[in-house]
Amino acid sequence: MTRKKVSIIGAGNVGATVAQNVFAKGYADIVLVDIVEGLPQGKALDMLESGPIVGSDAQVIGTNGYDETKDSDIVVITSGVARKPGMSRDDLLYTNMKIVGDVTRKVVAASPNAIIIPVTNPLDAMAQYVLETSKFPRERVIAMAGELDTARFRTFIAQELKVSVDDVHAYVLGSHGDQMVPLVNASNVAGVPLTHLFSREKLAALVKRTQEGGGEIVSLLKTGSAYYAPGAAVAQMVAAIILDKHAILPCCVLLKGEYSIRDLFIGVPCKLGAKGLEQIIELTLTPEEFQMLRKSAEAVRDLVAVLHKAPVA
Ligand code: NAI
Ligand code: 2OP
Repeated sequence: MTRKKVSIIGAGNVGATVAQNVFAKGYADIVLVDIVEGLPQGKALDMLESGPIVGSDAQVIGTNGYDETKDSDIVVITSGVARKPGMSRDDLLYTNMKIVGDVTRKVVAASPNAIIIPVTNPLDAMAQYVLETSKFPRERVIAMAGELDTARFRTFIAQELKVSVDDVHAYVLGSHGDQMVPLVNASNVAGVPLTHLFSREKLAALVKRTQEGGGEIVSLLKTGSAYYAPGAAVAQMVAAIILDKHAILPCCVLLKGEYSIRDLFIGVPCKLGAKGLEQIIELTLTPEEFQMLRKSAEAVRDLVAVLHKAPVA
């Protein structure tokens, strides 16, 4: 059996962490691409040499071009600039748009049938740009953010209650920004609603910490943003697709009327399998949550409008 091929564009912190997570599972060969000479080659060789220890026979190669990515099954795009303290994700728009547009055109030329997972920020707008540039159907452009935001929410809840993270079931929808929507009413711990476990004030604090979770890491690291949890989140999406799991994960996809939102990328629960996006799950939201989701979508729409006015293509 030949292994599937996963290419990762951008061999920086997130890209390399995705590669490491996927490599350790052994179910896909990996191509790491970066513009910095030696960086993807060095990281790939180092990772390959961990194979005998982690028990993986997968192949990892690093390159500065796209020939080796030819006919990838999945391409993860992490190339771009990460934010520093004082910057919002939106501040990265024009710089990353140029990088992501160029990368997407090269990815499509080499792998016209791939499923693309955009990761570069500002996430929702970049995902929209990848779809527009690639002209792929929405089933094959599935961006990562909701899984990370949800993992943060679950972590904070588990820590607070001193329970296993496995027992915390939660969803964070909406944009990957401070206006993301942690769904308090749809979240529970072993079936017990959050509202039975926390005071209103405590819940509000958990929601706020989740919404500001990315910034919390940036202010600690000072030189960049999170990558362990983001890398693990992307790897989970890769697994759902490669192993045709039909797994339901919060992902950022193009909505076509679901949740009353049209022609916009936003985070919602998605069923992922071998063909990519199989289904969007429409949860019943409270009027307040619905309102928050709409507000979150408006922020993305505003940013996409700025993107469409950009002089670069
Ligand atoms: P990083 O700076 O460690 O890595 C970025 C890499 O992209 C660098 O190695 C750089 O050389 C490379 N690169 C730049 N232009 C390129 C091009 N044209 N072709 C190929 N490679 C190119 O940054 P990090 O921490 O890996 O973050 C990457 C992106 O992911 C950032 O935009 C960050 O904001 C975003 N991010 C998004 C998350 C999400 O939840 N969606 C979570 C974490 C990060
Ligand atoms: C995060 O939430 C940087 O968007 C990234 O950590």
